[in-house]
Amino acid sequence: MTEQPVPAQQSETAPAGDHQPVKQRKNGLYPAVSDELAAHMRAGWADTELRDLEPLPQAAETARRRAALSRRFPGERLVIPAGNLRTRSNDTEYPFRAGTEYAHLTGDQSEDGVLVMEPAADGGHEAVLYLLPRSDRENGEFWLDGQGELWVGRRYSLTENERRLGLPCRDVRKAAGELAEQAGPVRLVRGHDMGLEAALADRLDAGRDEELRVFLSELRLVKDAFEIGELQKAVDSTVRGFEDVVKVLDRAEATSERYIEGTFFLRARVEGNDVGYGSICAAGPHATTLHWVRNDGPVRSGELLLLDAGVETHTLYTADVTRTLPVNGRFTDLQRKIYDAVYEAQEAGIAAVRPGAKYRDFHDAAQRVLAERLVEWGLVEGPVERVLELGLQRRWTLHGTGHMLGMDVHDCALARTETYVDGTLEPGMCLTVEPGLYFQADDLTVPAEYRGIGVRIEDDILVTEDGNRNLSAALPRSSADVESWMARLKG
Ligand code: GLY
Ligand code: MN
Ligand code: MN
Repeated sequence: MTEQPVPAQQSETAPAGDHQPVKQRKNGLYPAVSDELAAHMRAGWADTELRDLEPLPQAAETARRRAALSRRFPGERLVIPAGNLRTRSNDTEYPFRAGTEYAHLTGDQSEDGVLVMEPAADGGHEAVLYLLPRSDRENGEFWLDGQGELWVGRRYSLTENERRLGLPCRDVRKAAGELAEQAGPVRLVRGHDMGLEAALADRLDAGRDEELRVFLSELRLVKDAFEIGELQKAVDSTVRGFEDVVKVLDRAEATSERYIEGTFFLRARVEGNDVGYGSICAAGPHATTLHWVRNDGPVRSGELLLLDAGVETHTLYTADVTRTLPVNGRFTDLQRKIYDAVYEAQEAGIAAVRPGAKYRDFHDAAQRVLAERLVEWGLVEGPVERVLELGLQRRWTLHGTGHMLGMDVHDCALARTETYVDGTLEPGMCLTVEPGLYFQADDLTVPAEYRGIGVRIEDDILVTEDGNRNLSAALPRSSADVESWMARLKG
């Protein structure tokens, strides 16, 4: 009856016609369908090849990045995978987000993609991109396979992708086999594609692979003009997302922090790819929990809302912005006192961001201001130098004052200490400046009225040739400006 015999169990559990594709062919077989249906499905489809595709806007930049990678590892085979879908439950998957290294080097975001830098005779490399091609209409995979285009949507053909990405493209189903045929060691970016890791296991070395990841992390320290444009887009969408939230604070009061999360997410999905990290929508005492992402608490008038959120663009660059807002639009005296101290610390931090400055300078500048205020308020015994030397302010400042920002919210995280934390700022670096003060609800070392107040202000700062530019300056920061902005938006 069929051209392709069917294992009995499979035909029972997934009969043709169920609203369920066969996620994996068993023994290379698809389920039973009649010859007539198979023939009916094979024929009568239009040629939809796109012949006038333009290269991606960042194609020249991705080529430059690959050239830098090639220079760093002459003669070595390098493998940079996009990663695979991860199961959420049964036959549903988490939304896919391509590995940062892969997207940065190719501009592509396809699941299962693999960039291979193949050593060339001239000492350089030939870059080859392995991708899943369009689904075959002949063997039925386009409608019988869970990865088939009828289920997951049309993919670019390999030829189309060659035009878009400026790279030769091959069928990814041949990647492991072709790589296995090549002699010699390989460096692989680990953590994305377990199948490939297993296939190449006996040729890999953890230390060498780590060197590759470190290099690719450091390759992102200085952003090019395309990346800066994308970061600005991410921030601009984020600004609109914050405005959306202020406009619906009464709905959040009637429901929960989730209303804020959902409101921001709507903006992120409509204008960008996603949020760049789980939005922190922390009202009242939740603001003292640094990564409060449960977002299931109440939003109350008279309390503060700490909103830390960022839109990720379609090209995977994310903003990372925090504002701490009085839910009813007016700070209390104590809230304002604490807010203004954080604002002053942030001003000092931003002023310390300039080319040639040490990376640590902006942190030190912000911490000094916060330590001064804590001593002044009698929360910790001075002098300030002693507090800073012993780090006593950290009971309430808790975290570092910022980090590199880019495709990852904590970008360049694998960069070596000497190039990042102990390094020097250069034009094109983009970082957050985000001091905070957090008085836990159960902190008996501070007066009761401080307890449960958390304030963070976070902006995205680009190092320029002569100083810095605040990419998120469109959002007000001073307490007075926040109040008038909220009054305008709340109408
Ligand atoms: N949103 C996490 C952070 O600010 O680093
Ligand atoms: Mn941050
Ligand atoms: Mn943040």
